[in-house]
Amino acid sequence: MNLLVVGGGGREHAIIKKLKENPAVETIYALPGNGGIAQDAVCVPEIGAKDIPAIVDFAKSHAIDFAVVAPDDPLALGCVDRLHEAGIPCFGPDAKAARIESSKVFSKNLMKKYGIPTARYEVFDDPAKALAYLKDASFPIVIKADGLALGKGVLIPQNLQEAEDAVKTIMEDKVFGASGNEIVVEEFLTGPEVSVLAFTDGTAIAPMVSSMDHKRAGDGDTGLNTGGMGTVAPNPCYTPEIAQVCMDTIFLPTLAAMRAEGCPFQGCLYFGLMLTPDGPKVIEYNCRFGDPETQVVLPLLKTDLLTVMQAVENRTLGDLKVEWHDGAAACVILASGGYPSHYEKGKVITFPASLPENVTVYHAGDKLTESGELVTNGGRVLGVTASAPTLKEALKDAYAAAATIHFEGAYMRHDIGRRALAALEER
Ligand code: AMP
Ligand code: GLY
Repeated sequence: MNLLVVGGGGREHAIIKKLKENPAVETIYALPGNGGIAQDAVCVPEIGAKDIPAIVDFAKSHAIDFAVVAPDDPLALGCVDRLHEAGIPCFGPDAKAARIESSKVFSKNLMKKYGIPTARYEVFDDPAKALAYLKDASFPIVIKADGLALGKGVLIPQNLQEAEDAVKTIMEDKVFGASGNEIVVEEFLTGPEVSVLAFTDGTAIAPMVSSMDHKRAGDGDTGLNTGGMGTVAPNPCYTPEIAQVCMDTIFLPTLAAMRAEGCPFQGCLYFGLMLTPDGPKVIEYNCRFGDPETQVVLPLLKTDLLTVMQAVENRTLGDLKVEWHDGAAACVILASGGYPSHYEKGKVITFPASLPENVTVYHAGDKLTESGELVTNGGRVLGVTASAPTLKEALKDAYAAAATIHFEGAYMRHDIGRRALAALEER
């Protein structure tokens, strides 16, 4: 079989490595892919993940049997719709279903209409009305741009002045472009955060092993928000009892709501949850695999990934038992110095002669130069991932391996998994 994966980050590398385990897979094409993915797939750097007509033409001319569309942008732009029109089976939601991520107003209204637990909120399309509302609000409060904003469209002002600045930044200065035409202002919730990715064919659902992201740039959850500086799985805060509550009050009601709205969701639905004192609530939905959650979740998948993805596409997921390995995984991101603000590219990356068998490096932001050197080409460069029987061992092995990989200015957090280990000790 010939497969096509749209995207070119660490998440896509993890998906590709897992798809390759299926012996029926001959060639995997990555559009655009990256320097490290080129070791596992045929990369096509000329075709960007948002170039839908070129992606569809490529799929038609390369006898693609199955496509996986991984990033949010092409999903929101209807990449799956266009591939289906061209007769190509694929994994990922259509544009209508992808609105669960691409419009916060859509997802918040969905949750309100169907009684799915989430933070209380108001929607504004007029900055003056938003400011009038904020005058009487209590702080901190949460302000979210409606549309996609590279994970940066959420601001948490601590007082009225900061809230006024946030409204101005999003709605008047339009730092997130048209994504800021509308905003959601919502109640500030507290509690441990859990990411649960789930395979779903619209009706059946197979939640994956839970995980914990580390979104802030600095140790101790300080500094700017990033795409994610590291992950661990499973998330020790997510007990079997909480998982059952989430299934009954969040997961199944969300699938039913999407069906009722005429946009059943097929693909990977990501539930960003907060375990509040009042029970689990939805912080956000993503219409795709998380990055870097995928890098710790997929290594623990025992069932063949392509088989699961085909069952999602064929709406036969209910007939399949999706199984997981015991144990844990940890991913430490090596980023370019300065990320998520300004950083330089083009630094040569060096690896040790070999890495332990339980360690995998997923490449996120690098490229091959004309002379075949691997150099940095993005903010998040590598995701150094280890699997082990316990989280403690996985973290130790991931950090030991990360210390052997070098490029000028490389930066990592040193406390990935610390909160998770503390939660394990409390249990
Ligand atoms: P999001 O992009 O929606 O995942 O939001 C980014 C981060 O902002 C989340 O991971 C939370 O840490 C935080 N956040 C979002 N919404 C809320 C909320 N209602 N209360 C507290 N923190 C929130
Ligand atoms: N790691 C969070 C995300 O993928 O949105």
